[in-house]
Amino acid sequence: MEATELLLNRVSCGKLTEPAPTAEQREVMYRAALRAADHGNLQPWRFLEVEGEGLERLGELYAKAALQDDPNLSDVQRERFRKMPLRAPLVIVAIAKKIEHPKVPHIEQILATGAAAQNLINGAFAVGVGAYWRSGAMAEHPEVKQGLGLEEGEQIIGFIYLGTRSAPLKTAPKPDPADFFHPWPAK
Ligand SMILES: Cc1cc2nc3c(=O)[nH]c(=O)nc-3n(C[C@H](O)[C@H](O)[C@H](O)COP(=O)(O)O)c2cc1C
Repeated sequence: MEATELLLNRVSCGKLTEPAPTAEQREVMYRAALRAADHGNLQPWRFLEVEGEGLERLGELYAKAALQDDPNLSDVQRERFRKMPLRAPLVIVAIAKKIEHPKVPHIEQILATGAAAQNLINGAFAVGVGAYWRSGAMAEHPEVKQGLGLEEGEQIIGFIYLGTRSAPLKTAPKPDPADFFHPWPAK
């Protein structure tokens, strides 16, 4: 795929199914993620590959976290949380580390990890894998963070759902650059 075609047309896909990305597809996506712009080359990121039994375990964590927030959660709602990670055969949890550095503040490490996640979904699009970046309350929840083994200062940047697209791709919107890019000083 042409780089410009990818960059101008990438879209997410929420309808994902088996099979999970192959080893070859993962190699491209992961290498793309690791080429994100990165101040000081700190590599302030790590990624958890969750699939198979792991997706069930992640769902249990979500349900436990949701029950903590609302002890009156109905069985139906609990089941909804439990099934959330099962919406794709592979979920990558993108985690920003917190590295002490005299010139690279934590916010830049978070931005670099966000750039890595974007590169990951761009890489997925390039190799024909469906991708959907999700976050929400579960990304912030202490129970989920602890269950996934996050350390002090680490932050979940996203849950990247990956798999085979089971719905047609939407057409990429085409916002007008003139609405967002302005000469400065103004003419
Ligand atoms: C940091 C981040 C978190 C996101 N979290 C969610 C989410 O929890 N749920 C959701 O429906 N979309 C979420 N999105 C947006 C989708 O991944 C997607 O980008 C959006 O629906 C627009 O579709 P497009 O990528 O095809 O333009 C998130 C995007 C980013 C960058």
